[in-house]
Amino acid sequence: MSGTALAHLVRDKSVIVCVGPGGVGKTTVSASLALAGALSGRGSLVCTIDPARRLANSLGMAALGNAEARIPDSALAEVGLRPPAPLHAMMLDMKQAWDALIRRYAPPDSQEKILSNRFYQSLSTALAGSQEYVALEKLWELTERRQYPLVVLDTPPTAHALDFLDAPNRILEFLDNEAARLLLTPALAAGRVGLQLFSLGSSLLAKTIAKLTGAETLQELASFLISISSLNQGFRERARGVRELLQSPGTAFVLVTAPSPERLGETLRFHALLREQGVPVGAVVVNRVHALPTSEDRQRASALPSPLREQLLTTLAEQEVLARLDAEGITQLRAGLGITPLVEVPRFERDVHDLRALHATGQHLLGQ
Ligand SMILES: Nc1ncnc2c1ncn2[C@@H]1O[C@H](COP(=O)(O)OP(=O)(O)O)[C@@H](O)[C@H]1O
Ligand SMILES: [Mg+2]
Repeated sequence: MSGTALAHLVRDKSVIVCVGPGGVGKTTVSASLALAGALSGRGSLVCTIDPARRLANSLGMAALGNAEARIPDSALAEVGLRPPAPLHAMMLDMKQAWDALIRRYAPPDSQEKILSNRFYQSLSTALAGSQEYVALEKLWELTERRQYPLVVLDTPPTAHALDFLDAPNRILEFLDNEAARLLLTPALAAGRVGLQLFSLGSSLLAKTIAKLTGAETLQELASFLISISSLNQGFRERARGVRELLQSPGTAFVLVTAPSPERLGETLRFHALLREQGVPVGAVVVNRVHALPTSEDRQRASALPSPLREQLLTTLAEQEVLARLDAEGITQLRAGLGITPLVEVPRFERDVHDLRALHATGQHLLGQ
């Protein structure tokens, strides 16, 4: 059973990063792995991004922003769980995380200037990859603190496989846009900004500016670029640190995906890219796999009165088709993954929104 692969990761790694497209179950898998970590005796933290509200509630993260909350023993005991080590959860709030970064790294006298800059305020939404970037910065901070033996990082849905790994570079390219600063600063002084902007061509900076509403004046952009210039060195060093951390033997990536045929090609490409980048893929999780109907399912259906019987038998026949399609896809995926273990999690009848369901998911993940 390849589930043991995840049991090893949970026992041995200090960072697990769950990546994959949107809606496949990254947040669910992340939280389940952190719970499994605590149950195996390692203090764990799951850092979630956009968790479903009910999951956030059941983990005690309602409206806590970036705060790290310990799941109370009483809540765990209620579902029969007594982890020997604490389980913590947090959800990453973009705005708060960016502000915290500025407060942490900007010189005290320029902090307020940056924070109140309207350009800065739209940065987090306008700048491509900034969510990925903040998640990585948070990961860096958490691992530096060494408070949690295991940190499980959920990630934003990645439209493009490399968005995540590339995020620090792109933010650096943006912050470090010497060309922009050189152009804007003197132009600003001379009151002639508009014209100069053309010379930025199609750089990330220019594209980002194009996305902004009219509210942000170029004046503010220039003043923003000037006030963050002192931050660049630190950003650069951490970006290098994060990159090393992601490639270190203590880190594993878990690629989460769905069994549908269109996802499979995408998963194989993503897997290949990660490996090319020297990033260790610990396992691929295929989530929400349709199970074949059992003979008991059929017997139970046959025992029902008409028309319920026919309805249920039709549903079971459909389920069988879906299960066969999933199995076919998984066989192809397995062949393409080479030595990377593939772990299946069945589609449950209900959403995974509480500790009991997280634990059940964890048992499938770890093959228990
Ligand atoms: N194996 C599963 N069976 C049934 N529902 C699931 C399963 N895995 C996840 N879900 C549900 O699917 C929805 C999306 O999962 P989520 O983890 O939030 O995805 P992502 O983080 O990739 O966007 C959630 O409502 C979750 O409870
Ligand atoms: Mg999510």
